This record gives sequence, structure tokens and C-alpha cells, in this order.
Amino acid sequence: MDALLALGREVLLPVYKQREMILERGQGARVWDSEGREYVDFGAGIAVCALGHCDPELTAALAEQAGKLWHTSNVFYSEPPLRLAQELVDASRFAQRAFLCNSGAEANEAAIKLVRKWAAGQGRAPDRRVIVTFRGSFHGRTLAAVTATAQPKYQEGYEPLPGGFRYVDFNDIGQLEAAMAGGDVAAVMLEPVQGEGGVMPAAPGYLHAVRALCDRFDALLLLDEIQCGMGRTGALFAHWEDGVTPDIVTLAKALGGGMPIGALLAGPKVADTMQFGAHGTTFGGNPLAAAVARVALRRLASEEIATNVARQSQAIRDGLEAIHREFDLFSEVRGRGLMLGAVLKSEHAGKAGAIGDLAAANGLLLLQAGPDVLRFVPALNIDDDAIADGLARLRKALKAFVASI
Ligand SMILES: Cc1ncc(COP(=O)(O)O)c(C=O)c1O
Repeated sequence: MDALLALGREVLLPVYKQREMILERGQGARVWDSEGREYVDFGAGIAVCALGHCDPELTAALAEQAGKLWHTSNVFYSEPPLRLAQELVDASRFAQRAFLCNSGAEANEAAIKLVRKWAAGQGRAPDRRVIVTFRGSFHGRTLAAVTATAQPKYQEGYEPLPGGFRYVDFNDIGQLEAAMAGGDVAAVMLEPVQGEGGVMPAAPGYLHAVRALCDRFDALLLLDEIQCGMGRTGALFAHWEDGVTPDIVTLAKALGGGMPIGALLAGPKVADTMQFGAHGTTFGGNPLAAAVARVALRRLASEEIATNVARQSQAIRDGLEAIHREFDLFSEVRGRGLMLGAVLKSEHAGKAGAIGDLAAANGLLLLQAGPDVLRFVPALNIDDDAIADGLARLRKALKAFVASI
């Protein structure tokens, strides 16, 4: 293990701060490292392995497709991406067309280009194609997506950034209205539940009010459901619970159940905006990823998943409540479904990473969402045993944390 850790430090660009372990295999909501240590996985990658690790049905779909056809490029058709696009369109209740790609950033990049092309098609001058995004958002690391991401820490050093973005505070409808008043906004782009920004849900009624402003100012509503979508909040699409109809939705992460895939879903206003040559990708929607995503989509859309999300969400909330009664560490637990954040009290601000280290030492993979929030985004089919084990390990980690301060 030490040799591999040293290799990682030597050969990879040091853009991540990996924990000192080499993960080797996974099953369901548990993974094992190269030393044979078992971990309960409360992160599922980063909200990716929504059906757990090595789900037998996903594995079989991958193996079957691997024996048939891996890649054709997008200048030829193959069946899995065609079927997946159809199934996504049908499941979405609003979209007419899909664009398949490889990642979240790539889906958002396509969405940003689609917005600009749509506004151009309406004869709007380039300076009247503004996209409004929200402080605390996260939309990915490509240059346009990182510019949409209204958090300076992700942008610093990458200037000059692409123009035409404007930032407002999340959940403040007055600020958004003021930002749109000039009539130069082509789209409002937001996560129904902000993920990286600290697991912050849109307030009840907020998405409705955003939709109304988009209608009033002839702007598109672009929802980034890359982290909160695909069943995570308890509905296949997070915005269903808000009762709004978007114009564009982006997906990735859980869509492939661990295979890299992203998607843009385009509603009637924009479904015919991009024509031949307007956009493209070599690997996007390749048969391997699409074959797996079809199975993942069917499973994630099931009643069984929705029921389990509600059950385990409550179990985590109850567990956190009990831990809080014992150690008094959190100012709030927020989020929806199996996308929960435990916000550390101000005296423990900045300590989420240290708690993650202690969790790992106690057999739990735990993510943070920024420096102050512990993030819970496990597999959506996680069972009672794994939840109970994970919470017990979290309690031990937090006990050690309290002892260390
Ligand atoms: C809401 C949201 N959008 C976009 C992205 C970027 O996705 P990717 O890392 O696949 O490019 C992420 C990743 O964390 C995300 O959470």
C-alpha cells in the first residue's frame, strides 16, 4: 500500500487530497481496501454508485455489452444510447430530445452552449445572453462550467473567464428579479439542492418563483440535477417535488451507476435549437455506458428505491439527532432524501475534513461538502445493516473528534 500511495504522490497531478488508503473492491454499500479493512460507504463515490458497488444486474449489463460492441463514435447509431435517450425523454415528463456525453461538466457545458445558441437564434446580441447562477453553486470544472460555478475558490487563477454570467444569492427571489430586470438574461441555471456548496435545498416555493421570473423575462430554466437527480431526493427528478417544468435538465453521476455518462435533456423550446454540427463528443453515449445506464435508470425510477430513500433518510436523520444529543456538534441537519448535510457548529468550522479522516480510521467513508458540512449521499438501495453500522462508526469517529479538541 505504501508504495502505491507514494506512486500516487509522484505521478498524478496533485489536484486531489486522497485519503491514505487504496480501495480494492466493493459490494453494495461496503468497500474494502488493499489491507483487507472494510468500510461502510456513505459517499457512493460522490453520489455516483446509487445502486451500490458491483450490483449484479449492472455488472451483467456491462459484461453483456462488452461482449457485443464497445464504441462506434456518434457518426453511427447503436441501440443502447438510442434506447437510453428514449427512456430518459419518457421518464423526464418534459423533454423531447437528449444529448448524451461523459460527465457532469460536459453536460453543463452543452447546456450553456444550448442556451447561447437559443438566444442567438432569437436575435439577441451576445451581451443579452446572460446566464444567472447562484452563490454556493457547483457546475463542474471546465472553463464555462467553473464560471457558472459562483464560488471564487474554483475560479481563481483561471482568468480570463468566459463572459456572460451573473451571480446572485441562492433562495433570494428579490435579487434574482433585480438581476433579470434589464431583460438581458437568457437562462437561470441552478441546482434544486446545492451539493458541493453545502447541501442546501431550494426553499419551498423558490423554484416556482424562479420559473415565473423566467416566463416573465423570456429566459430558460436550466436545472442541474447532476448530484440531486436520479432518485436521490426521493423522486427520480428533484424538481418534481417542486412542481415546476424546466426547459433543460443536466444529469450525470448516478445515471451510470458508476459508469461515466452524462446527459442533457431538452424541452420543447430548445429541442430543435442545435442542428447538424452544432455540438459533439467522441465518447458520449457510448454503448457500454448507455447499456448500464438503461438498467440504472429503470431501477432508480422504481417505487422500491423511493421507499428505501425515505426510510434510510429518516434513519440517518434519527442517527444524527442521537449523535447530536450526545456530542452537541451540529447546528443543523438539512437536505432531502439521501442527500443530507450535517452542518458543524461554528466552533467546529473547518473541521469536516478532519472528521472525514477519523471516519475513515473507524471504517466509514464520509464526504464533506465544503469545510463545515458532513455530507451523506450513500447508495439509494443501502440496507438497514449498513446504515446502522455506518452510524455506529460515525459515532465512534465523532467521539474521537470530541476527545481531540
Ligand atoms: C451539481 C453538479 N454539477 C456538476 C458537477 C460536475 O460533474 P463532473 O464532475 O462529472 O464533471 C457536479 C460534480 O460534483 C455536481 O455536483
